[in-house]
Amino acid sequence: MKTLNDIRSTFLSYFEKQGHAVVASGPLVPRNDPTLMFANSGMVQFKNLFTGIETRDYVRATTAQKCVRAGGKHNDLDNVGYTARHHTFFEMLGNFSFGDYFKAEAIAFAWELLTVEFGIDANRLLVTVYHTDDEAADIWKKVAGLPDDRIIRIPTDDNFWRMGPTGPCGPCTEIFYDHGDHIPGGPPGTPEEDGDRFIEIWNIVFMQNEQFEDGSMKPLEMQSIDTGMGLERIGALLQGQHDNYETDTMRSLIEASGHALGVDPFGAGNVHHRVIADHLRSTSFLMADGVMPSNDGRGYVLRRIMRRAMRHAHLLGARDPLMHRLVPALIQQMGTAYPELGQAQALITETLEQEETRFKQTLERGLKLLEEEVGALPEGAALPGAAAFKLYDTYGFPLDLTQDALREQDRMVDTDGFDAAMAEQKAKARAAWSGSGEAADATVWFDVADQHGTTDFLGYENETAEGQIVAIVAGGAMVADAEDGADVQIALNQTPFYAESGGQVGDTGMLRTETGVVTITDTRKTAGVFAHIGRVTEGRVAPGQAAVLEVDHARRTAIRANHSATHLLHEALRGALGDHVSQRGSLNAADRLRFDFSHAKALSLDEIEKVEAEVNTYVRQNAPVETRIMTPDDARALGAQALFGEKYGDEVRVVSMGRQDGSGKGTDGATYSLELCGGTHVQRTGDIGSFVLLGDSASSAGVRRIEALTGQAALDYLRGQDHLLAKTALTLKTSAQDVPERVRALLDERKSLSNEVAQLRRELAMAGGGGAPAPEARDVGGVKFISQVLQGVTGKDLPALVDEHKDRLGTGAVLLIADTGGKAALAAGVTKDLTDTVSAVDMLKAAVAALGGKGGGGRPDMAQGGAASAEKAEAAIAAAEQTLKG
Ligand code: ALA
Repeated sequence: MKTLNDIRSTFLSYFEKQGHAVVASGPLVPRNDPTLMFANSGMVQFKNLFTGIETRDYVRATTAQKCVRAGGKHNDLDNVGYTARHHTFFEMLGNFSFGDYFKAEAIAFAWELLTVEFGIDANRLLVTVYHTDDEAADIWKKVAGLPDDRIIRIPTDDNFWRMGPTGPCGPCTEIFYDHGDHIPGGPPGTPEEDGDRFIEIWNIVFMQNEQFEDGSMKPLEMQSIDTGMGLERIGALLQGQHDNYETDTMRSLIEASGHALGVDPFGAGNVHHRVIADHLRSTSFLMADGVMPSNDGRGYVLRRIMRRAMRHAHLLGARDPLMHRLVPALIQQMGTAYPELGQAQALITETLEQEETRFKQTLERGLKLLEEEVGALPEGAALPGAAAFKLYDTYGFPLDLTQDALREQDRMVDTDGFDAAMAEQKAKARAAWSGSGEAADATVWFDVADQHGTTDFLGYENETAEGQIVAIVAGGAMVADAEDGADVQIALNQTPFYAESGGQVGDTGMLRTETGVVTITDTRKTAGVFAHIGRVTEGRVAPGQAAVLEVDHARRTAIRANHSATHLLHEALRGALGDHVSQRGSLNAADRLRFDFSHAKALSLDEIEKVEAEVNTYVRQNAPVETRIMTPDDARALGAQALFGEKYGDEVRVVSMGRQDGSGKGTDGATYSLELCGGTHVQRTGDIGSFVLLGDSASSAGVRRIEALTGQAALDYLRGQDHLLAKTALTLKTSAQDVPERVRALLDERKSLSNEVAQLRRELAMAGGGGAPAPEARDVGGVKFISQVLQGVTGKDLPALVDEHKDRLGTGAVLLIADTGGKAALAAGVTKDLTDTVSAVDMLKAAVAALGGKGGGGRPDMAQGGAASAEKAEAAIAAAEQTLKG
């Protein structure tokens, strides 16, 4: 028997032999299509090749594309498990021509593959063509020899394929397989076509038109081919089955589910095992592509699928979490074709287990409430919306889970009532917000959120992505469009731009639509809506347009490095200073990082060096940076450091990096840094490049602030320091190494020179130099008295000069006035033998007063003071003499 893996390989290698490049599946979250929630067909990743916007180095390609149809336009969730061919996850095999071959080759390839490679009985095949497409009908006749009655012309959109309201499209031809008349149903185009006898297995689209927003359609320059064949369908057919869930892959997952629960997978609970098998695939593949459970957007679709599966596991009697135990079976089946599953195994397993553990806590109580509510209802009555909302709000029951639970009793849910209850809750949240005194213009963002939902953030994985503009706000109100020069805030359904939070600054970059360009200078968020703040710099933009969003890559790279370095710094500080260190604030900008933390005193040079060295050790370790989603309690139990001032919801993102290497505290190999954080980070710590701690300062009482640099900024800084040193060395005419020694020698030299200068000044003054008359003692009231007005000396020089005069006099009194350029410094002295009769203090005070100053003082033998001016020096000397005369 050919397994699904064999069939996939046969398909890809057949087209490879026909000159097609085998291209890996695009991601489930489309990067280039804002209107799609998940990739839902093979052509999604090639959209821009059909329109000619993009070219690659191949014009023929073949893929097995991962597809999810749950949430959004194509939603098969409700039917999964109950029908033979509905899946939330499936694989679409396809071959593509981008302006290369067209109808004739596409039909010939398909016919050969089906009838020769796969060996399908040609007599069981029939096809449809678009009613006006004679060319396709003729080719079928010629290539396959099909009679007219097996080439059915269909006049409806069933045979005109569109990827969406806009974009490439064209007529198609579909190939059907007749399972035989023992199964009810009629051929396509008949009233019985919905029966199960004739099953569509392959759709070949002749991409030749492009559909525009205004409803017009124009021929494309190139004629291309896009085909899609569900692997599970063709697999069932080739394995002689009618039901996709009877294929080898699906059976083995169903068996794994039965085995894990110790029940017969094909017994009474078979439908539950089918749901579990399908949901295991979609949830695991979504997580492998970066979607994490959350309460809105794609994350909520994932959560809904998970919880739906968990209820079915519960119905099978599972008492412990089940889903995560089935991951190895899935990887065994599909891990070779999709290596991303194996790479994400730990993340998938852990997330499934945590989600199921948490949901178990409310599932049973919710089901009990549901039972009570239903018990009180009349036969066949719908469950009131308020009850469904309570289950949603209090017990975490997604609406479709409640609907699924009631399906078995043929009972509906009043969805209008549910929507009304939801609207009421939103209105309350909004009222609480406006009452909280936040900026009034926040209300416009609640309007945007109400009308268009919150923004899906794609920026953990992508820095370029497409989004659809849902609203443009200018001057505080929503506007119909915005033209060149307008300052705008733009909301999109999804974005790679990070909105400022948790200390990380908002992204900047460019937004381009078909008609205009906006330069984005900041991104903020309110009520879950990301506002891209900027100015229209070209043309015009309007809501409804698709936009290519490009984050300033270099800036974001620097921000990532700074943010990750902040985590390492936090841990290094705890290691060096103690566990009392906790974050008090942070800024992760492009040019630097700032980190405030609780610690009472300045860091010593040793501590700074130690912290810096430790961060660099973990940078060099180049360990992967990992993120996981869990409850705040689980995160704290793991030892995660909580960010200061952040409010936590039901779940948190935990960022971990680095492995203990034995040099620090902790056990070797254990995670080094673990923090709750919603920011964007480097992939490996080595991406930080380098780390330089600039220094620490006081931020507020008991809080220190560190500033640091990473990557190129750190290197630039070090280079700058080096440059300064080199310049200094050059000036000092020495080598960089000898600069400290040289500076010390210069300082010593300066000290001895200034001593020498002071000495010389004194000598000069004593000798009557410096512009002063040669001092001569005269007799004043029987006391030998010397007075002198000096220039070129300072107040500090005066006491030594006074002493010298006293020595020379042997007995007597001295008054010196230094004219220090506008100000006056005075010193008076009396030899010891005279201090009983005359006082230096009296002399000085009298002199100072004569100069218009105040105060001054000292001892009877030496006093000092100052005045604003030495202009009246003669009067000052006379006043001093007066005190000697008694
Ligand atoms: N894109 C086409 C489909 O999904 C082939 O059916």
